[in-house]
Amino acid sequence: MSQTPIRARLSRRCIPGPCLVLLALFSTAPCGAADAPRAAAAGAVASAAPLASDAGVEILAAGGNAADAAVAVALALAVVHPQAGNLGGGGFAVVRMGGEVAALDFRETAPAAATHDMFLDATGTPRPDASLVGGLAVGVPGSPAGLHELHRRFGRLPWQQVVAPAVRLAEGFTVTERLATELAAERELLTRFSATAAVWAPAGSPIGAGSTVRLPRLAASLRDYGARGPSALTSGPAASAIAAAATASGGVLTVQDIGGYRPVWRDPLRFRAFGWDVASMPLPSSGGIILAETCGLLERLRWSTHPAGSPERLHLLAEAWRRAFADRFLLGDPATTLAGPEQLLAAPWLDARAAGIDRERATPSTRVQPWSHARPESTETTHLSVVDGAGDAVAITTTLNGSFGSGVLVPELQILLNNEMDDFATSPGRPNLYGLIQGEANAVGPGKRMLSSMSPTVAWRGRDVLALGSPGGSRIPTATVQVLLAVLVDGATIRDAVARPRIHHQWQPDELLAEESLDGATRVALGERGHRVTLKPRLGEVHAVRRVAEGRVESAPDLRGPGAGGVYPSPGHSPSARQGTRLE
Ligand code: DON
Repeated sequence: MSQTPIRARLSRRCIPGPCLVLLALFSTAPCGAADAPRAAAAGAVASAAPLASDAGVEILAAGGNAADAAVAVALALAVVHPQAGNLGGGGFAVVRMGGEVAALDFRETAPAAATHDMFLDATGTPRPDASLVGGLAVGVPGSPAGLHELHRRFGRLPWQQVVAPAVRLAEGFTVTERLATELAAERELLTRFSATAAVWAPAGSPIGAGSTVRLPRLAASLRDYGARGPSALTSGPAASAIAAAATASGGVLTVQDIGGYRPVWRDPLRFRAFGWDVASMPLPSSGGIILAETCGLLERLRWSTHPAGSPERLHLLAEAWRRAFADRFLLGDPATTLAGPEQLLAAPWLDARAAGIDRERATPSTRVQPWSHARPESTETTHLSVVDGAGDAVAITTTLNGSFGSGVLVPELQILLNNEMDDFATSPGRPNLYGLIQGEANAVGPGKRMLSSMSPTVAWRGRDVLALGSPGGSRIPTATVQVLLAVLVDGATIRDAVARPRIHHQWQPDELLAEESLDGATRVALGERGHRVTLKPRLGEVHAVRRVAEGRVESAPDLRGPGAGGVYPSPGHSPSARQGTRLE
């Protein structure tokens, strides 16, 4: 068994990882938990996994609403997209339904026995891979309680019916090229733990495309979850099995941690930008704040007056992110954060930040400091979204963090556990899996939620409603905001907005990432402004959906990954038939 640190490999695989799904439902039927089930008038699904899209369409066809379909897709992804879909991880949902705008936080928490220096050795040196591989990397799972809570508040169909497609898939499904490729890439991680290898790499070889996978214990766990709700996975023998799997490989997770986990409804991060209303995820995700700070700075810089795709626009975007990600350094769990929207989105701070941006030259990141009281004048993931004809929308992003999480699989349940502990500043000041430098506010602490970048987002203007999100760690908010801006500022269709070449800057390291599809002249122009430009095959994987007008819907799976789209009702509907192709 190899003990080579695999942090570098995870970084390579996961940052641009194609691990996002998006689902959209469009219905002219009014919704509400009290309404009797009825057939949706129209619906659209876009997802990274065709079988998960099918699950969403099935629930729409049965009269499910946006929340029902979203939860069904999320659970189907936990089976057929195990590198990111999960019951052993967590996530966030942003909801706009029946006139309410809400955000559900089902992010993992640190176990009660977690300590500030748990990932350092006696000399204060980070222990290689400890926050990424094995039991110590595992945060308390939030998905079982979170997905159920979302359905409890907003769903319409019986819970068991929403879980049923995932049960069926766990009884047997065909491995796609995408999953086979990811399994092969993560062979070393998957074969470190015998229970994981037994399921995903029997006889040492990752399962190939076209094979049928049968997961009878996962099917039984899901069936029990459908019958009894979260307690089927968070108490009794299931909780004991999860805790035992984590502790057997060095973890500190207990049955008390698992049973004590609670999702939290939070006020969404709401802001107005370019004439639209936007709702995104508040702390413990940095995503919404980064989106809002970026838009606030760009409005002040009259960004929309420059042509789409011009070096002027891309330069200002990078400079805005340089400052937003510097401010991210102060963020953490709402209980310990050193700043929040009150400081970072305050007009005087945005005015000062915008005034500090040089339109001609990149500011070295060393000269950009996080927000400070002293200078107040002058800081592998899956996404799905639903929009219906009434303008109701649900966007969920859920993750194990790295592809296949910690690599630890609970044998009794066939559930993979996350490695979300690496999202903490495990060694404050040092970069994490996504190269992010994070501060003391996000240090490890018992019961704390680790800072995230996930940005499930819904935006609306009149009857026009847009839902989107992305995987990609630190690239999530930058990929998401670029698609958002293309629609809000340029009036682009969501397909055009998703297809446009993307860039990324995150303050540290001081480099501007650009997709290879960005034209050479623009790259040169950015270099001349002082940006160190590094090319990447892809940045994020944004799948967007939109209700353009009453009964008119659009779906835009990102063709950077093998995204699949589908609509309901449609005689020829087949998500698998509409798969995109990889661009790399
Ligand atoms: O919460 C976060 O920001 C990360 N755990 C997200 C990980 C991710 O996007 C991996 N997918 N490529």
